[in-house]
Amino acid sequence: MYELIKRDGRAKRGRFHTVHGVIETPVFMNVGTIAAIKGAVSTADLEEIGTQVELSNTYHLHVRPGDQVVKKLGGLHKFMAWDKPILTDSGGFQVFSLAGLRKIKEEGVYFNSHIDGRKIFMGPEESMQIQSNLASTIAMAFDECPSSVAERKYMQASVERTTRWLARCKEEMARLNSLDDTINKHQMLFGINQGGVYEDIRIEHAQQIAEMDLDGYAVGGLAVGETHEEMYRILDAVVPCLPVAKPTYLMGVGTPANILEAVDRGVDFFDCVYPSRNGRHGHVYTKHGKLNLFNAKFELDERPIEEGCQCPACRRYSRAYIRHLLKAKEMLGMRLCVLHNLYYYNHLMEDIRGAIEEGRYAQFKKETLAKMEEKED
Ligand code: GUN
Ligand code: ZN
Repeated sequence: MYELIKRDGRAKRGRFHTVHGVIETPVFMNVGTIAAIKGAVSTADLEEIGTQVELSNTYHLHVRPGDQVVKKLGGLHKFMAWDKPILTDSGGFQVFSLAGLRKIKEEGVYFNSHIDGRKIFMGPEESMQIQSNLASTIAMAFDECPSSVAERKYMQASVERTTRWLARCKEEMARLNSLDDTINKHQMLFGINQGGVYEDIRIEHAQQIAEMDLDGYAVGGLAVGETHEEMYRILDAVVPCLPVAKPTYLMGVGTPANILEAVDRGVDFFDCVYPSRNGRHGHVYTKHGKLNLFNAKFELDERPIEEGCQCPACRRYSRAYIRHLLKAKEMLGMRLCVLHNLYYYNHLMEDIRGAIEEGRYAQFKKETLAKMEEKED
């Protein structure tokens, strides 16, 4: 159940109640595709750095270790020792971005596993069954994420099929949630808006899925090659067509600036690999922009990554030491950078929530963006 606590302009400050606890929004979900946050980050670490929701993937976990295995072990929460909310993406997007040869039919998608080439079929029912076996808190609908440069005619037909798939997802989830041996009988379902950069297709689709009374609504098919301005234009058009009394999730986005802009347009949920991927490459976020710790200028820098940061890296270690670890390819170097970056994102969201509550979001966004542009000495 979503509670809208406060609006500041179009920005929403919400509280999403789930069987695994409350999610304060706007929120950034920490990505652990295969039930592991890359960079040797444990679920105990996630608790320490203020993570509210972990995100995993249907397709990856179906391929390895197998959703039946996870079910036998009591579901994803027990398997990875994390009792807070978990959102699973449906596999649709990964099938389209990872699998080589694939065939899209009305019933679903035929493709080969990116691990061993084995033939797999996944449709709306299969995706819901896998997500039910994983027993995540929130399941995502099985969608097609067409190429951002897809022709209008293809986009229209694809979006119509995604709507039919959504109706099948909803029906299958209701059936699964009523079965005796289902681990999470309160699993929730979010629908996904598609339509590429065609505003009218997006709007019509948003209006159709808004009527389907889902637990939340995602905007998919963005941050796939279009410009930031195009993405903001689509959000301007689409978010007002989605129910304000339900959470809105912008999939796979993005930079701190993208998040600040999307919150301003009414988005509640985010996820992105940037903080963990950048951390693994020694790129760390600060209030004054990103630093590359491989840079020679940090060789003798005794300051923490960010003065005042309370993350496990900054509380103890200097830039110079972390740079040394990175250059020596010690795992700890990577791990500290990832922990700092996830902490940075999680706490940026906390600051965003505070600013909305106090009705000063516009000013907060302006100041935060301006600071990011300033480079330190
Ligand atoms: N992750 C990022 N974009 C998308 C999308 O369009 N669909 C799904 N299912 N996942 C995504
Ligand atoms: Zn830090």
